[in-house]
Amino acid sequence: MPTTLQTDLSEPRTPLEHEIAELGPWFHNIHLPDGTQTAPGHPLGDFPTYKWRVISPNLPEDMTGWTALDIGCNAGFYSLQLAARGADVTGIDINDHYLNQARWAAEQFALGSRIQFLHKQVYELAFTEDSYDLILFMGVFYHLRHPLLALDIVSEKFEKLLVFQTLTMPGEQVFVFEDDLTIDDRLLLLHPAWPKMAFIEKSLAGDPTNWWAPNHAAVLAMLRSCGLRPLKNPGHEIYFCRRDEQCKTDVNREELSIAAKSVAQLNSPSMKTK
Ligand SMILES: C[S@@+](CC[C@H](N)C(=O)[O-])C[C@H]1O[C@@H](n2cnc3c(N)ncnc32)[C@H](O)[C@@H]1O
Repeated sequence: MPTTLQTDLSEPRTPLEHEIAELGPWFHNIHLPDGTQTAPGHPLGDFPTYKWRVISPNLPEDMTGWTALDIGCNAGFYSLQLAARGADVTGIDINDHYLNQARWAAEQFALGSRIQFLHKQVYELAFTEDSYDLILFMGVFYHLRHPLLALDIVSEKFEKLLVFQTLTMPGEQVFVFEDDLTIDDRLLLLHPAWPKMAFIEKSLAGDPTNWWAPNHAAVLAMLRSCGLRPLKNPGHEIYFCRRDEQCKTDVNREELSIAAKSVAQLNSPSMKTK
């Protein structure tokens, strides 16, 4: 991940701040138990605390007995919040730099027994039987070369709730077109409310892995086509969903399985040996 949205702790003074500086740069500004912050100068402000303030009132205060998966957990901000509410949490990420931060942060809160952080590709979830009450799939979709493949996989791995967040492009209008689109009707695709996803070939915000920016209509349409029912949209770019098999587009299982295996093998050292 490029460093445009990350922060190094400048001029560390205390032993704790020195540890933070050594683990940097940080994308998550975590408020540690003594009040020290991991990324107080974050370019996005107090990130992701301001996002959590939108999400958290929509989750149970007591999550004892819940299992949760945090995909692309980064330094574990959300994993820590869920574990603090009593959930058993698995955080996965493909970047060991962030996984080290996350494991260190969990130790600071003495939450290590309730959280595990694993080096794992989202596509690798296709090869496990594990299912979770809650999945957070936030800030990852648009970084993926194969976003719908990932969403198809993730949509089958939770029981109660999926919290989905993606970078989007401007535009809140929603065009729902129920019929077949004829070959001569394609001008309709240019309508601002038609579901669309822009492809970014070079980079956005200094990050060449920001490949996609869907509009709001496209987020809703893609969620539905993966068998998900968007329940609410409590904040900008944040979607709460439950499963709804009736929405699901007829997915070609063979394509899904072969594609998932190929992508996971390409990207993950752990899959290469299997
Ligand atoms: C923009 S950050 C989002 C972090 C956090 N989920 C949040 O919303 O604040 C994207 C994270 O996803 C991770 N990531 C990117 N591609 C991934 C993949 N294929 N599988 C799992 N994690 C991935 C990155 O390493 C990074 O930590």
